[in-house]
Amino acid sequence: MKHIISPTDLTVSELDELLTLAEEIIQNPKKFSEVCRGKKLATLFYEPSTRTRLSFEAAMLNLGGSILGFSSADSSSASKGESVADTIRVISSYADICAIRHPKEGAPLVASNYSSIPVINAGDGGHNHPTQTFTDLLTIKNLKGRLDKLTVGFCGDLKFGRTVHSLINALVRYEDINFVLISPEELRVPAYIREEVLDAHNISYEETRKLEAAMPKLDILYMTRVQKERFFNEEDYIRLKDTYILEEKKMTLAKKDMLVLHPLPRVNEIATEVDDDPRAVYFKQAQFGVYVRMALIMKLLEVENA
Ligand code: CP
Repeated sequence: MKHIISPTDLTVSELDELLTLAEEIIQNPKKFSEVCRGKKLATLFYEPSTRTRLSFEAAMLNLGGSILGFSSADSSSASKGESVADTIRVISSYADICAIRHPKEGAPLVASNYSSIPVINAGDGGHNHPTQTFTDLLTIKNLKGRLDKLTVGFCGDLKFGRTVHSLINALVRYEDINFVLISPEELRVPAYIREEVLDAHNISYEETRKLEAAMPKLDILYMTRVQKERFFNEEDYIRLKDTYILEEKKMTLAKKDMLVLHPLPRVNEIATEVDDDPRAVYFKQAQFGVYVRMALIMKLLEVENA
């Protein structure tokens, strides 16, 4: 049985198979509408979510399966003090697969140690968000046609943004990837990512505060919101939250085929005027999240293709 706790829990070749299956589903979703009949997905969300929880649920329903779960710690027995370990032991007898989001880094890993069903990390604190990464990779592969030979700019909260950490971890395994890490000093990519991921893979990267200067170099611009919920101090959040705002004026500096991704939710960091730019693909990216999660559920449940 396989769990997905980190984006690198899939090898590059497994990831390639996953993305290929997701693209088959995009082409012909009806073909897969019964493959999980009789299977149940549990969504255990101890932290708020719109896209991840609902796209997991939509994915299982699209496959003909059923869903159960909770959408906040307050509406579960976690509010009475139940541990993640005890919860997953119980859920293992109610469902065939589960997706868990938790504010504590490492909670999905703990769950996987006590689970008899596949556990998928749906985001743990500021650490990892592997299924967002699979969504991002599907978006880039489908719309750009490749996952290598790319200069990828990450902009915003690179310290707390788990989607950034996960996507960097996944992309360093492809050829000729360069990063431009655009953030204020306080929100730089953590040292462990720089040392244990970027330096360890000999990845070429630069750190800068200047979005405008970086724009012309980029094939992908990955915008992120400043993660209010992870700040200890509201004053720091207020000071940093609007450091970067992508407007159409800045988009004129970019390549004609640069793509703008954002894991969403957006706050102020992308002006709504950018939504009409054909290079802004963040809503399509959210839609791809359903297809890649359908493919992941099928792979983890070892469901035969239709
Ligand atoms: N991208 C993402 O994780 O969104 P939600 O927090 O809405 O799930």
